[in-house]
Amino acid sequence: MSETRQAPPRIELSSIVQEYPDPKGGAPVRVVDGIDLVYEGAGINMLLGPSGCGKSTLLHMMGGVRPLGAMTPTSGTVRIDGEECRGSHPDAVMVFQRYLNRPDMTVRQNVELPFRARLWRGRVPAREQARRVEGALESVGLADKAEHRPSQLSGGQNQRVALARALVLRPRFLLMDEPFGALDAQIRAEMQSLLVRLWEEHRFLVVFVTHDITEALLLGDRVTVLSTHPARIADDFVLTEPRIRSEQWLRTPQAVAFADRIIDRLRGPTGVPGGQVRVTV
Ligand SMILES: Nc1ncnc2c1ncn2[C@@H]1O[C@H](COP(=O)(O)OP(=O)(O)O)[C@@H](O)[C@H]1O
Ligand SMILES: [Mg+2]
Repeated sequence: MSETRQAPPRIELSSIVQEYPDPKGGAPVRVVDGIDLVYEGAGINMLLGPSGCGKSTLLHMMGGVRPLGAMTPTSGTVRIDGEECRGSHPDAVMVFQRYLNRPDMTVRQNVELPFRARLWRGRVPAREQARRVEGALESVGLADKAEHRPSQLSGGQNQRVALARALVLRPRFLLMDEPFGALDAQIRAEMQSLLVRLWEEHRFLVVFVTHDITEALLLGDRVTVLSTHPARIADDFVLTEPRIRSEQWLRTPQAVAFADRIIDRLRGPTGVPGGQVRVTV
């Protein structure tokens, strides 16, 4: 193992500014304005903010996903393990709300897919690939669905496929963009528990984007709150309550105070919240 592998995983955003072209041809629109943020070590880091505030923009930068028609970031740097990130990083894997499963492939084939990607081809011996695929299917509870097609699965099961596909790469960084946002409440709760279990097993550095305050409080070791127009850091705090946190905990004075604090910070000096956040209990 090299020295960088033994060092704790680290993502560093420095002075990040993002501007996008104005669709009406006016001056560029500043979406993110000077974000400095360091994530270090294993943990579940929630990046919380109203819809449209720039969360995906920031997360995509960390994952090396480049939008069409714009440079990202406009200025500033993203470093992964100290090295400037200019494209996909083999240790950083993204999971999206739209789980991107291939309908023409079985569950197993979908989970094997990353090994065919250019970034990963040839890195893992075939026998080890097969072992990881079976292990990942087992971990997410889909071993008995390996020969099914995505269309035969529910939304939650499809998201499990996407998680398994991430797991086979043994990522040190798991970048999740509102992964459970489209699921109904009970399935979302199951997926949140699954994520906590997988985190306990793998200890990745997770950056988890959400606009759901409840989700941020249930899952996070740390919650970073973004304001909007343009995005700046409105708050950043640590949660030490052990997981899995119950609905009952969410109703304690401590948790209610955190939720109120977040809403207050999002309101900003004008008292008007920009964009939408969600509180589910
Ligand atoms: N490629 C792009 N080109 C132009 N505008 C974009 C692009 N991507 C995002 N935006 C705009 O930037 C803002 C932030 O978007 P996004 O990062 O997707 O927010 P969030 O994930 O918090 O909902 C939105 O107003 C969105 O319309
Ligand atoms: Mg988004």
